[in-house]
Amino acid sequence: MEFVTLNNGVSMPILGFGVYQIQDPEECERCVLDAISVGYRSIDTAQVYQNEEAVGRAIKKSGVPREEFFITTKVWISNAGYDKAKASIQTSMEKLQLNYLDLVLIHQPFNDYYGTYRAMEELYKEGKIRAIGISNFYPDRYVDLVEFSEVVPAVNQVETHVFNQQAAAHELMKKYNTQIESWGPFAEGKNNLFTNPTLQEIGDKYNKSTAQVALRFLIQRDVVVIPKTVNKNRMEENYKVFDFTLTAEEMEKIAALDTGESLFFSHSDPQTVEYIISLGK
Ligand SMILES: NC(=O)c1ccc[n+]([C@@H]2O[C@H](COP(=O)([O-])OP(=O)(O)OC[C@H]3O[C@@H](n4cnc5c(N)ncnc54)[C@H](OP(=O)(O)O)[C@@H]3O)[C@@H](O)[C@H]2O)c1
Repeated sequence: MEFVTLNNGVSMPILGFGVYQIQDPEECERCVLDAISVGYRSIDTAQVYQNEEAVGRAIKKSGVPREEFFITTKVWISNAGYDKAKASIQTSMEKLQLNYLDLVLIHQPFNDYYGTYRAMEELYKEGKIRAIGISNFYPDRYVDLVEFSEVVPAVNQVETHVFNQQAAAHELMKKYNTQIESWGPFAEGKNNLFTNPTLQEIGDKYNKSTAQVALRFLIQRDVVVIPKTVNKNRMEENYKVFDFTLTAEEMEKIAALDTGESLFFSHSDPQTVEYIISLGK
């Protein structure tokens, strides 16, 4: 495993396991246990995924020491604001059966996220959270939050994959010393990512799959990745991305796949904002 060092010195695995859309409790517990047995130690959950309890049970059952893990959760929009956010993070810790969290993110840049961030800053200073950050904060809101907060977000988790590489946003995050983390490193398979000819051709050279090349590209750009799968063989496949290196020319070929646009939705489109706010109310 390789690690990145966050702006406060905390070490975070560059590869983790995401559990979005693994809602069935037994299925989620099984997946996280499988992922841990494969070697994953970083798990990315969220209040709105409704699987924090299952993740917590798997962590406990695994018998792996707590300090080996890097556990992330995210505060949902309906829990925004100082008091609610603070209480919700406490609830997340209880559900996860943990007395501290490695990383807490504001899931979406909506509702009273300043209040949420103040609560997170306090919990961070009290040592209940080792690092705090944000998600889906695109350049304008990101700069605003950084400029008016005491603690610079350690991480910003945004949609990042070969078709939407976030080059400009990534540069901005480097300027302020925030680690970029990819959600949807496979774009959830959209745009035929898993059969993309460029990724396929490069993969053939190394005897690697398109999925492995897609992850490797991001890792070589210092992007933290948290691929999701319910299949143990794919968990293993996605984990084996540290034994080959893409050349500068191959990196350029993949860079050319960038469309600079979301394959999911725009956070600055009012109808999308209404839709996101309606989730998990
Ligand atoms: N902050 C946010 O707003 C946000 C938004 C979305 C996601 N996330 C986080 O990011 C994580 C990853 O994103 P994601 O789950 O949306 O999508 P993703 O990781 O880009 O793609 C997951 C899809 O790829 C398939 N897959 C995985 N490995 C594969 C392989 N080696 N070969 C072929 N297919 C493969 C999975 O299928 P199977 O499961 O059937 O194998 C699943 O359909 C999430 O789990 C979550 O933790 C955060």
